[in-house]
Amino acid sequence: MPSGPPRRIFLTGFSFSGKSRVAPLAATTLGWRAVDLDDLVEEAAGKPIPSIFAEEGEPGFRLRETEALRRACRETEVVVATGGGVVLAEENRRLMAESGIVICLEARPETIYARLQQPDGGSESERPLLRGPDPLGRIRHLKALRQPLYALADFTAHSDDLSPELVAEEVARAWRRFAECFSYDGARLAGATAGAAPGLISDVPVGEPGPICSVKTETADYPVYAGWGILDKLGEKLREAGLSGDLYIITDSNVHRHYGGRVAKALSGEGFAVQTHVVPAGEASKALECASEIYDWLTAHRAERGQGILALGGGVVGDLAGFVAATYLRGMPLVQAPTSLLAMVDASIGGKVAVNQREAKNLVGAFYQPAAVFADVSTLRTLPERELTSGWTEVIKHALITDADLLTLLEDRVDAVRALEPDVTTRVVRRSMALKAQVVAADERELTGRRTILNYGHTAGHALEAATGYGALLHGEAVAWGMLVAAEIGRRVGVTPPQLAERQKALLARFGLLRPLSEVSVDAVLSAMSLDKKVSGKSIRWVLLAGVGKPLLRSDVPLPLARDVVEAMLARQSPAGERA
Ligand SMILES: NC(=O)c1ccc[n+]([C@@H]2O[C@H](COP(=O)([O-])OP(=O)(O)OC[C@H]3O[C@@H](n4cnc5c(N)ncnc54)[C@H](O)[C@@H]3O)[C@@H](O)[C@H]2O)c1
Ligand SMILES: [Zn+2]
Repeated sequence: MPSGPPRRIFLTGFSFSGKSRVAPLAATTLGWRAVDLDDLVEEAAGKPIPSIFAEEGEPGFRLRETEALRRACRETEVVVATGGGVVLAEENRRLMAESGIVICLEARPETIYARLQQPDGGSESERPLLRGPDPLGRIRHLKALRQPLYALADFTAHSDDLSPELVAEEVARAWRRFAECFSYDGARLAGATAGAAPGLISDVPVGEPGPICSVKTETADYPVYAGWGILDKLGEKLREAGLSGDLYIITDSNVHRHYGGRVAKALSGEGFAVQTHVVPAGEASKALECASEIYDWLTAHRAERGQGILALGGGVVGDLAGFVAATYLRGMPLVQAPTSLLAMVDASIGGKVAVNQREAKNLVGAFYQPAAVFADVSTLRTLPERELTSGWTEVIKHALITDADLLTLLEDRVDAVRALEPDVTTRVVRRSMALKAQVVAADERELTGRRTILNYGHTAGHALEAATGYGALLHGEAVAWGMLVAAEIGRRVGVTPPQLAERQKALLARFGLLRPLSEVSVDAVLSAMSLDKKVSGKSIRWVLLAGVGKPLLRSDVPLPLARDVVEAMLARQSPAGERA
């Protein structure tokens, strides 16, 4: 039975970011009530907050604050204005995350300082902390300390230049979007927040390496460098990422021909001693035999544990070199330098490394995060056209599942993007990389469901790849069709708006995807789907789109309906317009 999201909003943020002003306004918009946490504390204590601080100190106040928060969590249809320090306690963060949506009101230190001068609007509990000399410096310092905790919010609203009324509207809008992010299974897609994608990317000029974002997971925290024509800065950036000394480059024959010399020069110029191992281009190199040859090569060069491995190439090289790095000497530092579009926006970020076995792709592998990712977007200029086109599928997928702005940008600039115009291409690729980074950070090992949204279009896509014998269709070409299948299923079960399905189809077509499928056996596709690894138990777990940036997991799609959609899709493809 579908269940809705908890009807509770917690406003967090530094003192004087406007929480107490905004809470009642947002509550009115939603037809809810507003609660001020400081008021609850005072009510329960029977004395004002300054007295609590004076008599019980900050620890006493914090205990009372958590108690008050527990009470607020028992209310429903409330907007809770919290104190600036509420995020400090792990217990408080857990209570809020489990009981509702957390929205952080953000304001610059200067804005907070200006508001502090005014008589009202701030939080009582924060006032004592801001007394003393140099209040602006103190605000900056305290705020910087707490920023990582504020950043855990589901959504951030910037209040500097907006009236409280407009901020309240943003809050209400965020809640509505958040409510739509609930899967029909009733489980919240962890991290499927109403917030927009990271906004830090556009600030870096396209010719600068960045970093454009970092990937923070439970086991690692690494920078992602991406820019146009930055290959010559590779050595410099690897140094910054903490590497030095010997470096083992693993690449393939095509990439070596184009970039081997330039990369070696960029690295030796920074004092790295490099050795290069070239594997034949193509998926066949992603095999244990190749890994074994590389182990021998590393042994012959007396590679040591602290020395780094550089994966220079597409996803094949990234997965193979990553697998070697994860296993040789129980782990060597790895740098991913992706040169194909698929590897940039997908394979290089997230730490999945693997080799294939005869029975299945990626059967033997590990989660092994790199020390850095470095992408020179201009290397796409030498990527074969079909590989490039196929790679756009993942970019379009990222936009559809997480980022309305990116989707519009792609629609507005299709031609420039496909022609690899440096400025817009770099923006698009960076954004897509950052989105992947964000999803992966929220769910490193695919445990909470967040990373599952990346499988949009992949359930039927993988089946098509398998049914056509891997190789007839490139991955992105198959997934583009898989996205059509998912959208049609979504439309039939009333999740996906028909206009969105149309919009997706039009964009995929404009990117040169949706090439005709010839001679695909429906039965082979369907049987591949019941073997697909995304299947748990008997039902297939579909990622469907309720809107742009609103992916849902649905396990209750009737099998006959799914079968019908796949059959209809493939029937339209066969030359006779009938089932092949
Ligand atoms: N680890 C992950 O999370 C993940 C995600 C997606 C895909 N993958 C894996 O990635 C692989 C596919 O990656 P791919 O599409 O990059 O394939 P690929 O590595 O085979 O590269 C495609 C082709 O383009 C060539 N090439 C790459 N960059 C080039 C450049 N700049 N100029 C000229 N030629 C260039 C390669 O030599 C190859 O011939 C698959 O094995 C897949 O399983 C892994
Ligand atoms: Zn994919």
